[in-house]
Amino acid sequence: MHEDIDKILFTQEQIHQRIRELADEISRDYQGRPLMLVTVLKGAVIFLAHLAESLKVSVQLDFLGIASFSPGRALPGVVRISKDLDLDILDKDVLVVEDIVDTGLTLRYLLSILSGRQPSSLAVCTLLDKATRRLVDIPVKYRCFEIPDRFVVGFGLDYNQQYRTLPYIGILKSHIYQKLWGPTP
Ligand code: IMP
Repeated sequence: MHEDIDKILFTQEQIHQRIRELADEISRDYQGRPLMLVTVLKGAVIFLAHLAESLKVSVQLDFLGIASFSPGRALPGVVRISKDLDLDILDKDVLVVEDIVDTGLTLRYLLSILSGRQPSSLAVCTLLDKATRRLVDIPVKYRCFEIPDRFVVGFGLDYNQQYRTLPYIGILKSHIYQKLWGPTP
């Protein structure tokens, strides 16, 4: 285990197994309908790679870049699009692939932009859900794991662009992130 990690929440095997289960559920729900996976850069990319290889429906991939104006929790949800989609989503079945939903403010912003482009359906799939931190009601249709209010890294999730390639999801030691993120309750 990496020395900055306090505790492993989910091992590589647990994550892979859960993603396969979720992919089966999504494949059943979208059977016969091509699916557009809109992935939010960069945290969700590793999740996307595993999800996409287990899906049994035909998929198109596109990517959205989000720039946050605030490095910590001071101004959650103050974001803008830094890289827009390349493809048109009009009349498409769109599934937004996220790494983690925390307050829900980022997704609320994204969903409002995407729904304005009139897809035929729009749903959310996330690797992690910190449901207890939610400030706005967001319809999360698919989630791999619900987690407590702790700062986690690995399997795509970062702190200051580090730890993304850890093959597991772990709680970061608090002294590493406290300056930027603020203490957890
Ligand atoms: P929200 O707008 O509060 O839902 O913020 C979601 C974003 O906050 C995610 O896309 C992540 O970039 C970031 N985030 C929230 N919690 C964590 C965490 O525990 N680890 C890493 N990033 C996190």
